[in-house]
Amino acid sequence: MRFLGIESSCDDTSVAIVEDGHTILANVVTNQDDYHGRYGGVVPEIAARKHLEHILPAVQHCLDISQCRIDDITAIAVTYRPGLVGSLIIGLTAAKSLAFLYKKPLIGINHLEAHVYTCCFAGMTYGTPHIALVASGGHTSILQINSHDIHLIGRTVDDAVGEAYDKIAKFMGLGYPGGPILDRLAQTGDPATTRFPRPMIDQDNYNFSFSGLKTAVMYFLHHYPDTPPPDIAASFQDAVIDVLTTKTIQAAISIGYKTIGVAGGVASNSGLRKLFTKRCEERQIQLFIPPPRLCTDNAAMVAGLAYHKWLSGCISDLTLGVHADFGLKMQSRL
Ligand code: KG4
Ligand code: ZN
Repeated sequence: MRFLGIESSCDDTSVAIVEDGHTILANVVTNQDDYHGRYGGVVPEIAARKHLEHILPAVQHCLDISQCRIDDITAIAVTYRPGLVGSLIIGLTAAKSLAFLYKKPLIGINHLEAHVYTCCFAGMTYGTPHIALVASGGHTSILQINSHDIHLIGRTVDDAVGEAYDKIAKFMGLGYPGGPILDRLAQTGDPATTRFPRPMIDQDNYNFSFSGLKTAVMYFLHHYPDTPPPDIAASFQDAVIDVLTTKTIQAAISIGYKTIGVAGGVASNSGLRKLFTKRCEERQIQLFIPPPRLCTDNAAMVAGLAYHKWLSGCISDLTLGVHADFGLKMQSRL
């Protein structure tokens, strides 16, 4: 069964066709970095307008690449939450129009759940109980996945980790998005240049905070402006990856899970991937991280998850609306 997925929750317009939840036949991603770059972050109005321009060509391109006809598609899946409302509306309206026009079922997908699903493209079996870290420009959340239930057990209390990367890169005049740029610089820098704070690392909960760390980096740059950018990047990244791995692994150990999945744009970070691999090996925890192109926003994760939603009868109707929030209540575990 083939599912067509649409993702437009932030600034990437993506359309994909995935067969039976695992075989990606096409995954078209049109990013808008050139339009947001000059502002150092996503401008919601620009994002929505660009989605409108990109979405139908992306659907056509996706059908061409996969050599599918719309008749071959079982259902249309679309991200309807969480995200920028204007951006979500473009994707949802396109999906509803296709569903209505071609008489296909519509399947609404939660973006966070879709990120978690990307670990299934890296070999995890859908429904495996595990602890998931979703780290991106909009989220830094720890989720407890029990079979098909998802519980939010930790999240950032201020900035998302990707947002901290983007803001620091902007402050350093390095460009947008900042994550991949700082990641590249960090590889040649000295992480021992300075020890930045590890916010909330010792607290008895699974929450994160990155706003203070971002400010600490900015103060450091103010006081030591001649520090080479690679050394700043390496020291910042060292703090970030220490906090993310420590708290996620702590959650797995205290809840008694032996499997961790890491997803979201920041999961493509080379330092984070290395440290998770090392620390999970030391603790005999099984680790799943999707390839970098499936960490950042894409519609393959939407079309892949749709297969399982379809199997469990989760079909939406054409009154489906968009929501900015992720719709998961925070569960206090400690
Ligand atoms: O998942 P994503 O594409 O969009 C959201 O749902 O937010 O994540 C984008 C975020 C951006 O903040 C970007 O700077 C960050 O992921 N990012 C990275 C890397 N690649 C992307 N952060 C650190 N290291 C990277 N290699
Ligand atoms: Zn995302």
